[in-house]
Amino acid sequence: MGSRFAADQKNAYPSLIAALCERDAYTRGHCDRVCLLAVEMGRAFDLADPALDSLRIASQLHDVGKIGVRDNVLLKPGKLQPGEWEEMKAHSIHGERIIKETFLLNKLDVASIVRHHHEAFDGSGYPDGLAGTMIPLSCRILLVVDAYDAMTSGRPYHHPRSHIEAMTILESEVGTKLDPECFEMFSGVIARNPDSHVSGL
Ligand SMILES: [Fe+2]
Repeated sequence: MGSRFAADQKNAYPSLIAALCERDAYTRGHCDRVCLLAVEMGRAFDLADPALDSLRIASQLHDVGKIGVRDNVLLKPGKLQPGEWEEMKAHSIHGERIIKETFLLNKLDVASIVRHHHEAFDGSGYPDGLAGTMIPLSCRILLVVDAYDAMTSGRPYHHPRSHIEAMTILESEVGTKLDPECFEMFSGVIARNPDSHVSGL
């Protein structure tokens, strides 16, 4: 039984990545870029290896729940209507469910990171409205990196913003959406990784 589970775990991760890529190529590229910066952030925060490993996996799979979002919502070029936005927000819960069915019990923290990767520092995020340090550190890290990459990537409904524009917007969200400590750390990490300034995708 143990070896079967080990094999499942080994195979599940690339399988999920491949499934996500088939669903939406942008999401796959976005998750790869977010993963690189999130791991750099984790190192900057001196996360221990097990926590860093969970952050690495969660950052690559944070949007895997978008597999469960309908095309007319996921790929809609314009602004989402309130009902559509609720459907989109559900991707964090879909993702938690998928990962819980995939990983061994000792990786339940990955499922938790995925569930809470859109919680905001002031409690205005989703799905549970957690605030401050009630939000796991890995989720606070993921939020700033995710927001940066979403802004600096081109999408059908917006042109990519420059590094300076994105940093200015992030700075305006410190204390509301973003953890001040995470933003400060991110400023240092991104300055040391200039290749990450422009995604090119
Ligand atoms: Fe997300």
